[in-house]
Amino acid sequence: EVTGALAGTANDVISFGVHRPAGAVETPSNKISFELQEMAKYYFSQGGKLYRPTVALLMAASCSHDRMLETVSENQYKIAVVSEMIHTASLVHDDVIDESDTRRNRPTVNALWGNKMAVLVGDYILAKATQLLCSIGNAQVVSIMAQIIEDLVKGEFMQMGVRDSSSEARFLHYMQKTYKKTASLFANSCKSVAVLAGCNENIQRTAFEYGKNLGMAFQLIDDLLDFVAQSATLGKPAGADLKLGLATAPVLFAAREYPELDRLILRRFSESNDVQKAWDFVLNSDGLRQTRQLARQHCEEAARLIAFLPNSAHFGEHLTDLAMSQLDREH
Ligand code: FPP
Ligand code: MG
Ligand code: MG
Repeated sequence: EVTGALAGTANDVISFGVHRPAGAVETPSNKISFELQEMAKYYFSQGGKLYRPTVALLMAASCSHDRMLETVSENQYKIAVVSEMIHTASLVHDDVIDESDTRRNRPTVNALWGNKMAVLVGDYILAKATQLLCSIGNAQVVSIMAQIIEDLVKGEFMQMGVRDSSSEARFLHYMQKTYKKTASLFANSCKSVAVLAGCNENIQRTAFEYGKNLGMAFQLIDDLLDFVAQSATLGKPAGADLKLGLATAPVLFAAREYPELDRLILRRFSESNDVQKAWDFVLNSDGLRQTRQLARQHCEEAARLIAFLPNSAHFGEHLTDLAMSQLDREH
């Protein structure tokens, strides 16, 4: 219930700065701005899971020394919004990189307006997020949130990078990539709201670790769903990772059982039938179960940490539900 209310309000605030004022007159200069705003609003207007702002707001409430929901401050609220804006900007760019034409069962920004426009729209959302972030007026928090952007870029870069030859090195590379591409956003948003709550460094670290573990579980489940979910449920094509040349956890686990997979991983499933062969290996292996098991460990670690937060008695249960519900996620 609390999560729903928080997510609903976050949804309203997300249109901050990207709505056309009622009765605004269109002049040649503000016409450009309105057009950009329309495109920038496109993903926000579709809702999405609003998972990141929900985590940030519940963490904010759990870090508060007061017991009231209202103790989520305006600045913590802004962090929640910024987290969703950075995420959305990265999705707009990601769909260009992945040449995706469907997200949330709708055409992507690049499918509608082309790649060049999508690059600009992603940049624009990032600029708006930066303005909102700077309005908090806390240099430490700006630095923590900027780290997310660096990590997103490096995570995406690692994903494109050369494959390590040993399977251990490959798994480590995958986990580091997963932290940067996904978990850093959860971890550093949680840390930011803890800093804004005036928590000591120990609590800041606990908030960070909660977000990190939740984020790792989130991506592991995402990588699992790519093999087991239907495209209609996901709102985007299933089975996309192998086609993009990506070896995610289910494949890396499967390769321990079927070393023949190593060659396919190294050539990024580029030869004919590689994708189908890898798919069959994964489904015949224990890889999907092991991926879920690893996700479960991260969920449980996130849940364990909640007890150390100042207001866990009131909001801890929601953070626990949020972490454990990862394992039941269908999209
Ligand atoms: C989705 O992954 C993509 C990300 C989580 C991060 C993408 C990051 C960048 C493009 C670089 C940084 C850009 C900015 C503006 C900060 P996916 O392709 O595995 O998921 P999908 O199936 O939802 O497309
Ligand atoms: Mg991608
Ligand atoms: Mg993608």
